[in-house]
Amino acid sequence: MTATRDPCSLSNYGAWRTKHTSVDFKIDFDVKQIHGSVVLQLESQTDKESEEVILDSNSVKISDVRVNDVEAKWEIKDHSDPFGAPLHVAVPGGVSKEEVIHIKIHVQTTDKCPALQWLSPAQTSNGKHPYIFSQAYPINARSIFPCQDSPDVKSTFSFRLTSKLPVVASGLYVGDRDHTATLGTEKVYEFEQKIPIPSYLFAVASGDIATARIGPRSIVATGPNELAACKWELENDIEKFLQAAEKLVFPYRWGEYNVLILPPSFPFGGMEIPIYTFATPAIISGDRQNVDLFAHELSHGWSGNLVTNCSWEHFWLNEGWTIYLQRRIVGAVNGDAEFHFSAILGWKRLEDDVEQFGKDHEYTKLVVNHDNVDPDEVFSTVAYEKGFHLLYYLEKVVGRENFDKFIPHYFDKWAGKSLDSFEFRDTFMDFFNETGDAEIKKNIATIDWNDKLYTPGLPPKPEFDTTLADQCFELANKWKDPSFEPSEKDVEEFTANQKLTFLETVQQAEKPLSPERAQLLGKVYNVATSTSVELKTSYLLVALKANDTSCFSDVAEWLGHVGRVKYVRPLLRALNKVDRQLALDAFQRHKDFYHPFCRGLAEKDLGITA
Ligand code: BES
Ligand code: ZN
Repeated sequence: MTATRDPCSLSNYGAWRTKHTSVDFKIDFDVKQIHGSVVLQLESQTDKESEEVILDSNSVKISDVRVNDVEAKWEIKDHSDPFGAPLHVAVPGGVSKEEVIHIKIHVQTTDKCPALQWLSPAQTSNGKHPYIFSQAYPINARSIFPCQDSPDVKSTFSFRLTSKLPVVASGLYVGDRDHTATLGTEKVYEFEQKIPIPSYLFAVASGDIATARIGPRSIVATGPNELAACKWELENDIEKFLQAAEKLVFPYRWGEYNVLILPPSFPFGGMEIPIYTFATPAIISGDRQNVDLFAHELSHGWSGNLVTNCSWEHFWLNEGWTIYLQRRIVGAVNGDAEFHFSAILGWKRLEDDVEQFGKDHEYTKLVVNHDNVDPDEVFSTVAYEKGFHLLYYLEKVVGRENFDKFIPHYFDKWAGKSLDSFEFRDTFMDFFNETGDAEIKKNIATIDWNDKLYTPGLPPKPEFDTTLADQCFELANKWKDPSFEPSEKDVEEFTANQKLTFLETVQQAEKPLSPERAQLLGKVYNVATSTSVELKTSYLLVALKANDTSCFSDVAEWLGHVGRVKYVRPLLRALNKVDRQLALDAFQRHKDFYHPFCRGLAEKDLGITA
């Protein structure tokens, strides 16, 4: 009865469930700590059976624990990686079922906290103020404050955050938003999140942040120097994407959809923080060509944030659904060819990852066993792309028109809740057994769920419309001939994604270009000096593969401007291949700029793990 289904949480959330969380934290730049108190309101799931609450914690300092305002007996048990050290709090005698107790904990973060990155003024764009941001996904919320750190537990949140710089958090701002006048002066910022969210969506950021409107329910927040460029980049598409998503599912329930553009050391492309998607500045390219990322992140407003995987074993329910919605949105806004183009690129990445793991590897299954497994190790495109392919297959089995009726049903049924793959399967089967005609019922009976959820390796490859992709592959093919004479017209009609696909294909070709040919490519197609971080990075990878020594110092320098794992790892690995010393020097020079997560992966890649 009190068993839990999340192997990555040490908490006893089967016996107690967090209903509301209030944090009252000071963001202290001077000592690089977040400290203050957290109050967890926990509802008893049993009738006086449980006499202790066990919470997840990792590398936090605790000074005081109170239960219903009375000093409590508590103990932090042994630490073990990666799940941390459970905090046991005594509740003598237990309480009646459904009774709610308040646990108040005084806590401070330590320099071992993997969830926080503290940036010095020099690491921000205008160099005037420090900056902090958090990244709790997947199991790092416990390194900010003790909690039931499982996506199977959802809580509403109140935030009271004191900082001398403007703050954003994963809730709606309470009060007026005129931050800028208070730069440097301590102020309290309050936020409310009335929709229950899992702990991994808890987030804060604070720094020299200004805001501008990018849509009727959207603002962008970023450094004052970048504000105009960010506004221009986003103001055309966000509302369009939101409306397309709403047509597919149902109205957006979170009130605002805002974007925070972070400093360049943000290690991901985007993270679906409720109210404020966090995103890398690398997508601000001056051509509005990277906005697809927001079709993805805002889709999480339904898949992931509203309807949540109950453990990382079922991560595809978050990311596979989100990729599916993202592609449907982009298809609806830019035409069906874009749906297929994106799916083809995804398939290529899936092939790469399956090859990397090995086609029989546990981590290539849709549902992955996580007993004693660090979710970071499992992370790959498998959940994204195999998840997408299951949904695309189900769409084909019942027909798009019918599948489109299932989408709102599913998201409404599970809104505010967490589920596993079997509950998903049952919801799908029940819906079509109740509403489908004889033909549909016959078709869904043939679905081999066991195979879909547990067979490792690639799923069957469906037919795609290859129009957009073929153009990229054909051009890449021409470059195999050393006498091919390029012209800037070759890529005139290409979208940035097509240029990217072309560059990736050239880079992955068995035979590298000669250094001279790589330089020619960079110049004629205008990618060597592109203002797009994606394009420039992809070009540098082509040049490195070509052993074009003239680009080496440029790469070493560039590695201090990009902090997204997706760029840092391939660049460092490729540089390491052609000039190990230079790669090691570049890493030493830039390692403090990288986020701890990125730094760790880079050390692994370079073989210099401490
Ligand atoms: N939830 C992920 C971001 C994430 C993944 C954060 C793993 C931490 C660890 C987010 O929604 C995502 O998938 N972002 C992608 C971009 C997207 C367009 C596929 C990214 O950051 O590359
Ligand atoms: Zn995602």
